[in-house]
Amino acid sequence: MRRRQRFLFKLGLIGTIGIFLFLLLNNALSPAKSTDEIKAEARIQSKGDTEIEKAQEKQIADLETTAERIDWHDHDAITRDLNREGLGEQGKKAYLEDHDRDREKLMYRQNGFNAMLSDAISVNRSVPDIRYEGCKHQKYLKKLPKASIIFIFYDEHPSVLYRSIYSVLNRSPQHLLEEIILVDDFSDRDSLKQPLDDYIAANFDIVKVVRLEKRTGLIGARMAGARVAKGEVLIFFDSHIETNYNWLPPLLEPIAINPKASVCPFIDVVSHSDFEYRAQDEGARGAFDWQFYYKRLPLLPEDLLDRAKPFKSPIMAGGLFAIGTDFFWQLGGYDEGLDIWGGEQYELSFKIWMCGGELLDAPCSRVAHIYRGPMDSRKNPRNTDYVHKNYKRVAEVWMDEYKEYLYAHDEGLYETIDAGDISKQVALRKQNKCKSFKWFMQNVAFDLTKVYPPVEPPDYAFGTLQSLANERLCVDTLNVGLHNPVGLYPCAENHKRPQKNQNWALSWHRDLRLRNHKECLDVAESGPNAKAKLWECHGQGGNQFWFYEENSKMVKHGSNLDRCLEADLSSHKVYVNKCDELKDSMKWQFGFVNSSALANFNKKDGEF
Ligand SMILES: *[C@@H]1O[C@H](CO)[C@@H](O)[C@H](O)[C@H]1NC(C)=O
Ligand SMILES: *[C@@H]1O[C@H](CO)[C@@H](O)[C@H](O)[C@H]1NC(C)=O
Repeated sequence: MRRRQRFLFKLGLIGTIGIFLFLLLNNALSPAKSTDEIKAEARIQSKGDTEIEKAQEKQIADLETTAERIDWHDHDAITRDLNREGLGEQGKKAYLEDHDRDREKLMYRQNGFNAMLSDAISVNRSVPDIRYEGCKHQKYLKKLPKASIIFIFYDEHPSVLYRSIYSVLNRSPQHLLEEIILVDDFSDRDSLKQPLDDYIAANFDIVKVVRLEKRTGLIGARMAGARVAKGEVLIFFDSHIETNYNWLPPLLEPIAINPKASVCPFIDVVSHSDFEYRAQDEGARGAFDWQFYYKRLPLLPEDLLDRAKPFKSPIMAGGLFAIGTDFFWQLGGYDEGLDIWGGEQYELSFKIWMCGGELLDAPCSRVAHIYRGPMDSRKNPRNTDYVHKNYKRVAEVWMDEYKEYLYAHDEGLYETIDAGDISKQVALRKQNKCKSFKWFMQNVAFDLTKVYPPVEPPDYAFGTLQSLANERLCVDTLNVGLHNPVGLYPCAENHKRPQKNQNWALSWHRDLRLRNHKECLDVAESGPNAKAKLWECHGQGGNQFWFYEENSKMVKHGSNLDRCLEADLSSHKVYVNKCDELKDSMKWQFGFVNSSALANFNKKDGEF
């Protein structure tokens, strides 16, 4: 309580000086510095590192240049797969014909994916090799450590679990697999008890099952798997995945070079409806915002030079990763005070970086994951808000003064939550001589606050967007929902604080969004009468870049600033057309304009 009051007092005080000045003063956030400047500073700071670290670095450099590398591809298996035909083969979209639609729907709802379709697709199916060209010729160290693959599951659909296992067995060099460990987190389904044991006995010899006696959640289940694992490397997987060709060597090599590396594969997607295997995106660096939503940062110029090379990532997505067994235990594994799930990827990522390790993404290792679709809710394993309790534990142990930003974003919530006993984690941090969170923010996540500022800068303008050609009309979502054009509607009475439909903000992202929401006006067309549609905000400018010119009262779109929002009074539509100062239909008034902020619109260049 007291801590929080002090923080609010601090905020209040500094608020009078202005938030930007606050950011400037708080050197932790380094607002005005460019990426290069920040990194140059980081280099100077890390000069103070110990002799041991230097010796380690030399060892790593030697290994990287001198050791023998080989082509790990199983070319025969790849050719065999290319010749496979059938439902869902080559990762193609699959459909069921002539079947029980009601049963299909029921199984879909129970699993969040088309489980009946999964049963019809081979557990050995082939997948498309969508790796970067460079990956297909990449060689890896001849000597690689052996891995234990740990699949945790709760009520997983059997054929999906079996396909996950087969994809690992079929696409890994056998002598690099120590074992595959399945951890059953106290599933309710009978199909996962004796029938699973029988299936394993009949088909696999390196698969073991660990059964938990009560529902433990992702974190506890992973720890149970790790405890019995014998491999030099632990690979944690969700139980609904499919690996791609040659996925394993690129995950293991960085750990062979640096035992304190943890490596994530590129995550592809298996569609929950038709089981198509496809890429998700071209990769990004992991991050978080100040409510602990997992976020991503753009790749750095150096990450793009060779797409086959691993790149550094501040935060892991969490579902799929490899880590050296010794390093995992040196870090104490996961904090077992973390319950069920939530925050564990932050805890592990923070301590990997802060305690002398590194976290990498390996683009040549691709593993696809089924992101579930709509499903019946499963029973909540706890009656408490375990997620925020987890977040608070992570913040208290690792985030130093930055934890206050997390707490400030959820007004009062964290005050009511007891983080429990964290003495073991605090001792572990001390014992490992882990660096500060400020070090992490300046050296690893150095561009995070630019994209996700801990204190949101004010909106340039907000409230209704009123047409000056007909002052009764305002831009309104018309309740159409995402991806549809907005229009004009009679204005709300309160122009500064209208209802959500008309409450727009020219935000610091320099987009025009529903105030305090994540829906933006997006113009994709470039011809006359281009429609302004409601779209998810991406914060990257482009089709969503807007500016308000206070003098001319024009709302300008796109970085050329030559296209303007226009009211069509007869049809009550709004368009974007070539700017014309003489047109009243292009003049608009916001409910509130922050002139001082707007005066600096161009200066900030997106840096905070
Ligand atoms: C999958 O492949 C394995 C050999 O790798 C084989 O033993 C098994 O019978 C196959 N299963 C199916 C259902 O095709
Ligand atoms: C207007 O912007 C300034 C910064 O330029 C900020 O300090 C102030 O709080 C803002 N006012 C409102 C009402 O948002």
